[in-house]
Amino acid sequence: MRRSASIVATGAYLPSRVLDNAELEKMVDTSDEWIMSRTGIRERRIADKDELTSDMGARAAEQALQMGKIDPKSIDLIIVATCTPDTIFPSTACHIQHKIGATRAAAFDVQAACSGFLYALVTADQFITSGTYQTILVIGAEKLSSIVNWQDRNTCVLFGDGAGAVILQHREGGRGLIAHDLGADGAQTEILSIPAGGCRVPITPEVLDQRLQFLQMSGKEVFKYAVNAMNRSAESCLEKAGIKAKHLRWIIPHQANFRIVDAVAQRLGISLDHFVVNLDRYGNTSAACMPICLHETNVAGKLQQGDLLLMVAFGGGLTWASTVLEW
Ligand code: ACO
Repeated sequence: MRRSASIVATGAYLPSRVLDNAELEKMVDTSDEWIMSRTGIRERRIADKDELTSDMGARAAEQALQMGKIDPKSIDLIIVATCTPDTIFPSTACHIQHKIGATRAAAFDVQAACSGFLYALVTADQFITSGTYQTILVIGAEKLSSIVNWQDRNTCVLFGDGAGAVILQHREGGRGLIAHDLGADGAQTEILSIPAGGCRVPITPEVLDQRLQFLQMSGKEVFKYAVNAMNRSAESCLEKAGIKAKHLRWIIPHQANFRIVDAVAQRLGISLDHFVVNLDRYGNTSAACMPICLHETNVAGKLQQGDLLLMVAFGGGLTWASTVLEW
């Protein structure tokens, strides 16, 4: 029988600084009414200048280690999903490995924008189910405030900072991750990207003047693609798992926009009561959304052993990902 991989502990960290819509009204030409009605976002968290993606990831990881009563030295592998790494290299996973004292762990980053955490989780699952590793720390951490153009009202109202973490192990009798669906459409790279900073457009004074080092997005196109891709991916994942949508206890969708969550709920025919939503408080924290939602659901006591969960994400790439798991 296939060796299973279960989430045995969770953690999250959100910076204390709250940036609400009223404050954004003073920064760009926007309104609380526009942001709430178009997105559902009320406020988001912003990291301190000196607070790095790895700092937030390490705090979330430490909380998960504490919950699981797990020694950092027993971690075999750390995978960090982020599109806002501390440095292009070394990986943020290496920075976190040092910060939490996980001296035995191998460490690398995964980059699939907002789908990154699920890509990382599925990668970790392969190492556990193959018997290669016993304990894997999977982190989603983002400092999106560092790549947002604070002069662009189309994007700056949408994003926030934060981190979440899970620990994956084999657990006797648990089914853990049951199925997954990963996908990408590289023909759509232009509708959501950071144009400069890589080898294609190196940073020059002209590039900085044009603010090409910041995130750019064609919101409407991304919106339409997101609804279709999340729906298709979720259905494919449920089919692989042999599970009907009505048997799901919770659905954790990517937290980009409440209207996307609503559209996905309608298409899957599942009541919104089963959807975990915290985008009103944190905005879109990209790869950190999923593990933050999971941790909040866990510590609220809303997860019972045997509950079936669907997680479904969508992001730059374009990429999408779903997993079905038994808690
Ligand atoms: N305040 C006021 N007006 C605004 C704002 C704002 N913050 N932003 C845009 N507008 C204006 C636009 O300029 C436009 O005005 P115009 O008609 O005069 O040109 C008008 O509002 C409508 O803009 P739209 O883009 O049509 O608004 P839409 O209803 O599509 O909502 C939004 C925009 C919220 C961005 C939506 O398209 C969306 O959520 N897209 C998906 C984003 C997403 O899911 N990203 C996920 C991945 S992120 C990642 O991977 C890192």
